[in-house]
Order: sequence, then structure tokens, then C-alpha cells
Amino acid sequence: MADAATPDRPAEALTFPQGFRWGAATAAFQIEGSTREGGRGESIWDVFTRTPGLVIDGSNAELAADSYRRYRDDVALLAGLDADDYRFSISWPRVQPGGTGPANEAGLAYYDRLVDELLAAGIAPVPTLYHWDLPQELEAAGGWLNRDTAYRLAEYAGLVVDRLGDRVQRWITLNEPAMTTLQGYALGSQAPGHALMMGSLPTAHHQLLAHGLAVAAIRERGDAEVGITNNHTLMVPATDAPADLFAAGAFDLIYNRIFADPVLTGAYPDLSGFGLEAMPGLEDGDLELIGAPLDFYGINFYNPTRVAAPAEGSEFAAAGLPFEPVEFEDVATTGFDWPIMPETFTELLVSFARDYGERLPPVVITENGASFPDEVVEEAVDGGVQRTVHDERRIGYLDEHIAAVRRAIDEGVDVQGYYLWSLTDNFEWAEGYTQRFGLVHVDFETGERTPKDSYAWYRDRIGSSRG
Ligand code: FCB
Repeated sequence: MADAATPDRPAEALTFPQGFRWGAATAAFQIEGSTREGGRGESIWDVFTRTPGLVIDGSNAELAADSYRRYRDDVALLAGLDADDYRFSISWPRVQPGGTGPANEAGLAYYDRLVDELLAAGIAPVPTLYHWDLPQELEAAGGWLNRDTAYRLAEYAGLVVDRLGDRVQRWITLNEPAMTTLQGYALGSQAPGHALMMGSLPTAHHQLLAHGLAVAAIRERGDAEVGITNNHTLMVPATDAPADLFAAGAFDLIYNRIFADPVLTGAYPDLSGFGLEAMPGLEDGDLELIGAPLDFYGINFYNPTRVAAPAEGSEFAAAGLPFEPVEFEDVATTGFDWPIMPETFTELLVSFARDYGERLPPVVITENGASFPDEVVEEAVDGGVQRTVHDERRIGYLDEHIAAVRRAIDEGVDVQGYYLWSLTDNFEWAEGYTQRFGLVHVDFETGERTPKDSYAWYRDRIGSSRG
């Protein structure tokens, strides 16, 4: 990290193609505060955070970044960055408290106000319809294991688009279905907390069906742009040994390709290596919906994954899985212990363009960023005292990863936007308040916001990228 840019030593000017869109991303449950004000229903994350032992610091999202009340402050922060876009998510249980039935007016009205506030500040709203906060009543009926949940999501999408569609030009259907399947249903480390291992696969298909149905619901209502956001990682085999190469391919299939292939090519990859003839849950007509052309493809990238054949006696071997993620050696890491290897970001983007060719629509980086332990310091400035956070390591991460995106563009990948995760510190799911990703520090007791050095750095980066 020695050559990382700092506020005193700004990053080299790096211009991006004209029209490239800069923004920041957040998610409802992570920032709004789980207030039931306005008739919000309960979500699977309310139940998860209430269950002792599941969130690492025992916290919940009651206050989070307090954005339900402070959304105007957030919009002002975005305006201060001169951002083009704001990717936020809409809370399904605010709009449809039990996941079915008519819309809850107060819930829709909140997003109405947010959208108007953004537009007045010259920022385009890019809502994600589903970022993990499934209404608990739907979970009680089987959650994503139940095919019906896909139809419920499409109905909810219709209610939202009917209300906001006159002002929203770009929609994201789902956030990271892979994480819901793998962490929520296979391992149980995130809500709803089921540990079904391969039994989780129907949740992948039902989420993708929900995506396809939501795309249709949006298209029926106008000519807005639609995409999905998937989390992708570059699989790096631990060694060149055939068993490790095979393991990396198998994990790539489960983590990346099951979620990308049907959306981009209209077909699932061959799952016979897992003893499956077809994707569980697949019915006639589903793939036509799932594979409908998109206006953009959202990629979230944080780090690569090193993969080996499962060690004897490991939980992966015990579960009959042919792979096991292992740690990289001698690599700098983020606060989350995620390896910092920006060159793999370029490689991943180039591999998408190569593997999917013309079927890959323009790419938008819908999340990228890093958590580090931050410290607020008070400094004397112009006779007063100013609070700030010197987060050089975050700046270094961002600088290198934005440069990695630029390199991918040079290598021919059509990347049209970059949304940084995240605007403010927030509730990081099962990690509670222990991982801060924000450009802006949040005091989780008061909601007070303090821009970090990375905030000014990103503002300058956006400015200089426009040439
Ligand atoms: C992604 C999630 C996002 C946030 C970041 C750190 O997987 O989409 O909500 O938690 O990771």
C-alpha cells in the first residue's frame, strides 16, 4: 500500500469515458434504522438480529445510520460529491408489511420524498427493489424455498414502479442472490439462517425467477432501464494441481455461474458434476423470463477467492463439496480480512467480457469498497475544532480498484458506472457495527455524520475523472 494516494498526494488524474456515471450505494436495512414508524412490517433481518448469538457484536439495526429520518443529510452528502447516481434499496416490508396485498401508503411516501429530494439535487435515483429484507411473513411460508415468493416479489415491484416509475429511469431488481443462497440458506450465517448446504439450490432459482418476473413487470410499465446486481469473485486455484484447478472451477460454478449464466445466456451451466440433471425448481418457461435482455449488468466486487480441494475432515468435505476457500499468503487485507488484490478486479471484468461476449450488456460496478477500523480525531482548524477520520488505507483501496476498472475499460470491457460501497458507515449484517465501509463516519449512538478523508478524495476523483 506504500504508493496509495492520500489527500496530500492526490491520485494521478485518470479520465473516464464521457458519460461514465459515478455514485454511491447503500441498502435500506443497513442505513434506515429498523423503525416500524410508518407501518413497516417485520423482515427476516429483524428476526435474525433479535436471535442471540447471530450478530457478532449483539447489535441490531434499530438506529443504523438513522437515514429514515436523515435522508436529506445523505442527499446533501451525495450532492457534495457531485455524484451522478444514488443506488439505494427499497424496503419491501415498508411498502408491503406482510409481503402481500395493497401498498402501505406511508412506506411508498417515504421513497417518494427521497426520490424527489435526489432529483432536486440533480442526482439520479437507482433503486434496488430487493436487498435482502424479505418480509417475515413470506419467510414463514417458506421464504425463497417457496416458488410463490418470486410472484410476490413481482407484485411488490409493480406497486413500487407504479408509484416511482415516472421519476426513476434505472432499476435494479435484486442484490446478490448468491449471498442469499450461500449465506442465508446454505451456511446459515445470514438471515434467514438455514444451513441446508446443497439443499439451498432452489432458492437460487426462485430468486432468479423473481428477477425475471420483476423485469417483465418493469417493462410492462414503461421504458426504464433494468439490471440485476450480482456479487462476483475471481476464483484463484491454490496450486496448479488438478484437484485444486477442479475445485476452483466447481466453486466458480456455484458462486458465479449459476447466477450469471441464466441471466446472460438463458441457460444454467451443466450441474452434472454435482449429481444434478437440472437446476432444482426449474419449470418450463422460466429461463425465457430469467434470460430476458437487460440494459445493464451490475457487478459487485470486493476481493478474489483462493480455492483448494477440500481438506480431509473439513466441513466442506463433510458436506460432500468438492472445494474449500483458503487464505491467500502474504497479501494485505481489509478490516474484514478480505485480501486486497486490485489486479484481480480487472481480470474478473475482462473474463466476463470474454466469456459472455455480446450477451453481456454494459456493466455497472454496483458496489466496491473496503472496511477498516476508523478513528475520529479532533483537529484545530482556523481557530475552531474539526472532526475527521484519516482513512488512508480506504483511499488506497479505492484508488487501486478504480484504476483497475479503468484498465478493464482500456482492455475493451464496456463499464459505464461505478458505485462506491458505501456512502456512510452502516449496519453490516451479521458483523453488526464492527465493519465501517463509509466515506462518512456515523456515530451509531447519535447518528452524527463526519466525512472522512476518503469523502474529499472521492469528490476529487469524480471531478478529475471527468477530464
Ligand atoms: C455486499 C452487500 C452489501 C454490503 C457489502 C459489504 O455483499 O451487498 O449490502 O454488506 O457486501
